[in-house]
Amino acid sequence: MAEKMWGGRFKKKINKDFFHFQKSIDFDWKLAEYDIYHSIIHVAALKEAGVINKNEAKILTDGLNDIFKEVRKGIFEPDFECEDIHTDIQNRMEKKVGELANKLHTLRSRNDQVVFDQKWYCYKEGVYILGLLNVVLSSLNNLGIKYKDVFLPGYTHTQRAQIVSFLDYTGAFFCMFERDFERLDDFVRKSSIYIGSGALAGSAIPKSAYSEAIKKFLKKIKPDINTGRSKTVKNSLDNVASRDFVIEFLNILAILQMHLSRLAEDFILYSTKEFDFFDLPEQFCTGSSLMPHKKNPDFLELVRGNSGKIYGNLMSVLTTMKGLPLTYNRDMQTDKEPLFSSTEVIEDELKVMSDFLSGVRLKKEKILSALEDEELYATELVEFLVKKGLAFRDAHDAVGKLIRYSEDRGIKIKEMNTKDLTRFDTRLTSEEIKEVMTPEYAIASKKSLPKKKQTSSKKTKN
Ligand code: ARG
Repeated sequence: MAEKMWGGRFKKKINKDFFHFQKSIDFDWKLAEYDIYHSIIHVAALKEAGVINKNEAKILTDGLNDIFKEVRKGIFEPDFECEDIHTDIQNRMEKKVGELANKLHTLRSRNDQVVFDQKWYCYKEGVYILGLLNVVLSSLNNLGIKYKDVFLPGYTHTQRAQIVSFLDYTGAFFCMFERDFERLDDFVRKSSIYIGSGALAGSAIPKSAYSEAIKKFLKKIKPDINTGRSKTVKNSLDNVASRDFVIEFLNILAILQMHLSRLAEDFILYSTKEFDFFDLPEQFCTGSSLMPHKKNPDFLELVRGNSGKIYGNLMSVLTTMKGLPLTYNRDMQTDKEPLFSSTEVIEDELKVMSDFLSGVRLKKEKILSALEDEELYATELVEFLVKKGLAFRDAHDAVGKLIRYSEDRGIKIKEMNTKDLTRFDTRLTSEEIKEVMTPEYAIASKKSLPKKKQTSSKKTKN
């Protein structure tokens, strides 16, 4: 067990099992980078406030920068015997700079650190996810463009409904992911990361000292950050007590997951022998140990399956926060695993999804044979009769009867002669219906839609 950041008032040693039960280093080490940001700002504020001198500030900052470099290089090894990442960094500083490290935590609380760290985490991962989503958007767009001349049966109630273009089909998912992009973009743009709450009541360090420290920090660290992100605290109680930003982030990810899962479900369905419209890229499928013919859509199934985890993570934090009295409570430590889990799962899914989409191939022959199903053109036939002056209800009824007749007799509508057809309505002629009952006519007759054009993929503006 490593040294703790508290203990003066305790006579008894902490119970070993309880220590393991309550520690968070096993997962919160992922916040190391942001915890160092907090410390760097804090040291600068202590110097501004005259609590430590210039030399002390330099020694502390140099030590923190050394640890920061380790984190950035990916060689930071958490000490899993510590209570949490805040303690780990404090202990490292003691090893690096000796007694002076005891001044690092002057007038601050882990309650202020942890919310600061998590907000930075959401912000940085949010920006990263925007980049990944952008790539998925362009893969989806490219897939649509590649097969822009393909028509597909469209479904409602999982029953064949009307003809749609493949470009509109992929465009539907594009629209969903585009809204996800906008939601997330909005979230990262508005995130404000406060410092200076103390444990809950603020601290004796003047606001001006924090402001100055923040200014310097943002100037130095600028690479992948938007300036103005960290701020002096507005309401210290709210700052340490609130996790709505975690819930909002998890909510955005849950909606994105729902869209990924729906895409997965469609592609699974369309790759079955029953549909047989899509050929899925082999590199993302697996076989069966028993059945040699199998090519299973495991990537898509796992994407669909992850919905349980990702919705659960959102529900978990919502439930934890529901009845907590102000301000900070240790319950809030349990928000980290759900937060990290959803973030990592979504990132993994998006990383694979763009390559997966690039490898999807359409089985044009099979799709063409599905398009021969005459029922897909029933609505177009109704509209054709309406254009000829028949009332919609009557046209609907006439075509319904025609379909039924064709089904009962096993005769294709297109093969019926005009004499047969006019039994249902005098306006139906054999030549004209042959023209109407084509994918080209069906698509061209839809005038309410925008002209087809290539959708451009989003760009993250950060
Ligand atoms: N590990 C805690 C959390 O994740 C932060 C530390 C605050 N601990 C405390 N005893 N006030 O919420």
